[in-house]
Amino acid sequence: MCGIVGILNSKSLKSDAIEILKKLEYRGYDSAGISLFSDQKIRTIKSVGKISNLEKKSKNISDKFFSGVIGHTRWATHGVVSRNNAHPFANENLTLVCNGIIENYSQIQNRYKEIPKNIKSDTEVSFYYLSYLIDKYKNPDEAIEIFQKTIRGNFAFVIFIKKNNCFYILKNGSPISISNKNQSFYICSDSSILSNYHDTIFHCEDGDIIKINESKISYLQKKNKISFQKNISYQNPYDKGNYQHFMLKEIHEQPSVLKSTQSKYTSEYFIDFETKFRHLFEVDKIVLVGCGTAYHASMVGEYYFNHFTNKEVSTELASELRYKKINKNKQILYIFISQSGETMDTLMALKYVKSMNHKSLVITNSLESSMVREAEVTIPTYAQKEVGVASTKAFTCQLLSLANLALELGRMENSISNQIYKKNINLLTKLPSKIKKLINEFTPNAKIISKKLSQANACYFIGRNIAYPIALEGSLKLKEISYMHSEGFPGGEMKHGPIALIDKDSITVCLIPNNDLFEKSVSNAQEISARNGKIIILSSVKNMSKINGEIKVMNMPKENIIDTPFIYTIPLQLISYYFALSEGTDIDQPRNLAKSVTVE
Ligand code: M6R
Repeated sequence: MCGIVGILNSKSLKSDAIEILKKLEYRGYDSAGISLFSDQKIRTIKSVGKISNLEKKSKNISDKFFSGVIGHTRWATHGVVSRNNAHPFANENLTLVCNGIIENYSQIQNRYKEIPKNIKSDTEVSFYYLSYLIDKYKNPDEAIEIFQKTIRGNFAFVIFIKKNNCFYILKNGSPISISNKNQSFYICSDSSILSNYHDTIFHCEDGDIIKINESKISYLQKKNKISFQKNISYQNPYDKGNYQHFMLKEIHEQPSVLKSTQSKYTSEYFIDFETKFRHLFEVDKIVLVGCGTAYHASMVGEYYFNHFTNKEVSTELASELRYKKINKNKQILYIFISQSGETMDTLMALKYVKSMNHKSLVITNSLESSMVREAEVTIPTYAQKEVGVASTKAFTCQLLSLANLALELGRMENSISNQIYKKNINLLTKLPSKIKKLINEFTPNAKIISKKLSQANACYFIGRNIAYPIALEGSLKLKEISYMHSEGFPGGEMKHGPIALIDKDSITVCLIPNNDLFEKSVSNAQEISARNGKIIILSSVKNMSKINGEIKVMNMPKENIIDTPFIYTIPLQLISYYFALSEGTDIDQPRNLAKSVTVE
């Protein structure tokens, strides 16, 4: 994970670097640092915690006599969270930052006596190693080439060497882009941030070593010229408006982003579906892949494909798929779902299935991402930038994408009639206004439920069929932002073990849509209540027959299978938000997490 910035030849080195690091905080916020440099001097400032700490610490330091800066915000992988382990790692001649993991760092550490044995950070080991190579080889270019050949892993490095006053960018796996105007360069691990600085951009590729010497930029190993393209500009997503947190803002943005996503799909994306997509779907099987919330979207997708098409379909966690044997005899379409398009597990799983000659489709919210560059076909979600670590609007847009895809495929292969297709598209078109009403109406209830949660020791979520992944998602949301112990289960599984967890100090949120499994889901709730567990029922069925015990029933709008996951997600997002608010946690940047998980 981690976020990297580098700036050369700009009038506002320090303030721009801090500004960019703040935007990169979604990639980690354990510690941060900057190195200002020139051909005379390197000055490094580091601090533990968020960028605001670094900003305070560097307040009185002038950047007047420096020509460049590199900076870093860290999500700790190797080595504890401390000032020592914060990047940049620097001495009087070299400073560097890294995003990623150097897998063979301990072999390198054991091999060279010049590298201290007590250091734990893979980047610090790399720093000592490069410093040793620079001393050994007269030409720093040679040292950099040997360094790049030796280190193994997924990484992006930004390096300044004072000896030759040169700046290097190394990429393998982790994203890094450069924007440029005249003599000035901005380097960043999130290309979308760069559009605020310069209007041309270059995305580094795996294996690249780029060298910038004063204002001259070139490949170290290749003869070709680096060609910059026009940089697309983005709206400023880093503005909370009147909301206290990005998460709440993003929950409230769902009606509008669902509306724009759906209208893009109906007006252009899925027009002429057969011509664009038939070749992709001529397969024996579809496998949906993702991590975390995106995995829950995949699970919902499985229910959609199962319901509206005749295709064999299953889901996989990206981190597991990467290490599984894949059936080469079947033709499989893998659909990868990722908000960021940068999640390392998902990206590697995509590369893996491609290497096995299977087909790939990526559903993502980030059109500039590494996954888009890898995928055969991309379907964008139009959720706009999601800043809160907890995924909300990106998730519901992923669901919308999968719902449309399943309907289009079902119609193409005649597994659903035109009438059913139209009815469901109509439901999806009406969804934004339904969701808007629900957000407004459910907010007071979410506040009431959050008070009840503060009296409980654990909170469980149960659901069956298409409500089951939503139970998992509700639980993930709650635990990630409030740190309360929480699990999600398929309702029918409770009696096979999890019901042993139930006691009077637990609360179980039961998702009970009005579908074929309604009665069975009510029974599952009864069984919990019979064991003194408190329950909260979310259901569109009014006047539900009496269940004994401490129960709260919340009325949901009427649903169909296609809009069930959306309708039941909204209350869970709001409950988590208001409970975390009352717990006083850092909702947008919860502990130990990062928005984009760019390490394995
Ligand atoms: O960017 P991605 O969609 O690939 O991210 C996958 C997960 O890391 C992400 O959904 C994570 O689970 C969120 N924090 C959940 O809110």
